[in-house]
Amino acid sequence: MIYSTALPLLTLFGLINLGVEAHTGCGGHEIGRRNPGGRLIERAPTDEESAASSLDVTYECTAYSYAPVLNIKDRYPTIWQAAYILPDDTEAQTLFASINATLNEKFPNIKPKGTSTGDFTGVAYNATDPDCWWTWHQCTTPNQSTGLPPDIISTPEPGTWGLGFDDGPNCSHNALYDFLRDQQQSATMFYIGSNVMDWPLQAMRALTDNHQVCVHTWSHEYMTSFTNEAAFAELYYTQKAIKEILGVTPLCWRPPYGDIDNRIRTIAAGLNMTSILWSDDTEDWRVNAPGSNVTAADVDNNYNAVIGKVSNGTYVNSGPVVLNHELNNYTMTVFMNHYADIKKAFTYVVPIAAAYNTTHPYLESNITFPTFSQYVAGQQNVTTSPSTGTDSSSSTSPSGTSSASSSASSSSSSSDSKSAAGRGVVAGTTGLVLALLGAGLALLV
Ligand SMILES: *[C@@H]1O[C@H](CO)[C@@H](O)[C@H](O)[C@H]1NC(C)=O
Ligand SMILES: *[C@@H]1O[C@H](CO)[C@@H](O)[C@H](O)[C@H]1NC(C)=O
Ligand SMILES: *[C@@H]1O[C@H](CO)[C@@H](O)[C@H](O)[C@H]1NC(C)=O
Ligand SMILES: *[C@@H]1O[C@H](CO)[C@@H](O)[C@H](O)[C@H]1NC(C)=O
Ligand SMILES: *[C@@H]1O[C@H](CO)[C@@H](O)[C@H](O)[C@H]1NC(C)=O
Ligand SMILES: *[C@@H]1O[C@H](CO)[C@@H](O)[C@H](O)[C@H]1NC(C)=O
Ligand SMILES: *[C@@H]1O[C@H](CO)[C@@H](O)[C@H](O)[C@H]1NC(C)=O
Ligand SMILES: *[C@@H]1O[C@H](CO)[C@@H](O)[C@H](O)[C@H]1NC(C)=O
Ligand SMILES: *[C@@H]1O[C@H](CO)[C@@H](O)[C@H](O)[C@H]1NC(C)=O
Ligand SMILES: *[C@@H]1O[C@H](CO)[C@@H](O)[C@H](O)[C@H]1NC(C)=O
Ligand SMILES: *[C@@H]1O[C@H](CO)[C@@H](O)[C@H](O)[C@H]1NC(C)=O
Ligand SMILES: [Zn+2]
Repeated sequence: MIYSTALPLLTLFGLINLGVEAHTGCGGHEIGRRNPGGRLIERAPTDEESAASSLDVTYECTAYSYAPVLNIKDRYPTIWQAAYILPDDTEAQTLFASINATLNEKFPNIKPKGTSTGDFTGVAYNATDPDCWWTWHQCTTPNQSTGLPPDIISTPEPGTWGLGFDDGPNCSHNALYDFLRDQQQSATMFYIGSNVMDWPLQAMRALTDNHQVCVHTWSHEYMTSFTNEAAFAELYYTQKAIKEILGVTPLCWRPPYGDIDNRIRTIAAGLNMTSILWSDDTEDWRVNAPGSNVTAADVDNNYNAVIGKVSNGTYVNSGPVVLNHELNNYTMTVFMNHYADIKKAFTYVVPIAAAYNTTHPYLESNITFPTFSQYVAGQQNVTTSPSTGTDSSSSTSPSGTSSASSSASSSSSSSDSKSAAGRGVVAGTTGLVLALLGAGLALLV
């Protein structure tokens, strides 16, 4: 609305522009990438406690060597590059082969779309949205015949803000995490695998502080652009890195830019991961992003718009899941600045796990998260019981609940119609050609 930018549209064969804009949703090219592919630099000491105690951004963001990462990195894809299955990783190959067989049986016609940086120019796509492709029309409810659950985009609890942060762990996040700790506020952290490898001690703090950790892919690129194998590897190695470094296997993920379709959903489901999107976007990551003119005032308006919807009854039966980031100092600060107002307007502010009573958000059965009622009664702490030695797969997955699907239709984002430089534009057609041309994309690649 505010930025109804007339971005150039690719109209091939004289077909009609449906005027629909993709909603890219989160940062990527702006994410700080440490020392990509290079050697590790020493910083001492390298223990979690001291890493968590500094508020000096220069110190926090000085790269360091951490033995558990050094020991495993040869068994992982190159950080900050599209993931791939390592040639001698038979476990990954076996699992992928099984997921691939499912894909070839269920969705033989869904092909990779566009490029990994989100250029969908010339991509052919049927305007009936057969793949439930979020980037096309923000589809989050796959056709029931697919057997795929709807994506999580809201909370089923009245007046309840679902809190999460994308793109971490940010090296400098101690100020934010201290703030959350002091407020006794837990959140869902969507971690990028490459960031976990770069900043393992920062990642560990999420566990210590009772946050929920979910996967946000290995290299933070457009997932629908990847082959089956690369998309699998993006999720698999991030899940595995979090298991090896933090000791937990996350069963949830969020697609960068929201870029998901039924092929990608099936791969995530094959790894037992629930797909979590959002209902409202603060657009915080666009402030100071190259080619973007989104201002701090716009982001304040976006926060206030969600807060304002409490009073007109939007959240009497459910709550929003709001997109914001631990991407940089600004995105963390602006959340902290709005937190008091959020707390005042909403009845509860909870991580996604609590919103859905997901007491086992990890594969490990000995780690138990609070239910919604426990969380709002002040029992935010995660408990670890002595191991029985068996992993649980009986996690109380939130996906597929009727509340998730019913809220899917009722809480679509008011900011979905906004556009800004850096966002692609989907030019719809009578059914053959989809052209997504991001005016800002050229600036970003
Ligand atoms: C996975 O399926 C694709 C076709 O969708 C095929 O090209 C590829 O060879 C398969 N890979 C494996 C490892 O089976
Ligand atoms: C688009 O999908 C509809 C519904 O499945 C189908 O009837 C139509 O033939 C498709 N169009 C093209 C060009 O594939
Ligand atoms: C859902 O799938 C069924 C079976 O393939 C099909 O008949 C129906 O048209 C689909 N519905 C939508 C809304 O695409
Ligand atoms: C997913 O969960 C099922 C049980 O629900 C389990 O059998 C399977 O091994 C799990 N798959 C992965 C990849 O963890
Ligand atoms: C509340 O306000 C928002 C934003 O103006 C609007 O989109 C929504 O439809 C309104 N909801 C109700 C229940 O009035
Ligand atoms: C973390 O935030 C700082 C600003 O405090 C920024 O300079 C840095 O690039 C961010 N790092 C990552 C990994 O996103
Ligand atoms: C932002 O940067 C300032 C100056 O370095 C620092 O004092 C503050 O703690 C930072 N805030 C966050 C949320 O990182
Ligand atoms: C969570 O548990 C509470 C209390 O038992 C219940 O009222 C609520 O419906 C549950 N939520 C979900 C999503 O299952
Ligand atoms: C939660 O854990 C912290 C230490 O991490 C402890 O200080 C606090 O008392 C615990 N709270 C509850 C309600 O058990
Ligand atoms: C929890 O279970 C996992 C295996 O699922 C095990 O590796 C770990 O040591 C257990 N933790 C504790 C504290 O018992
Ligand atoms: C933002 O930039 C676009 C061009 O990228 C321009 O058309 C639009 O008017 C600008 N919006 C504002 C609020 O400055
Ligand atoms: Zn992101």
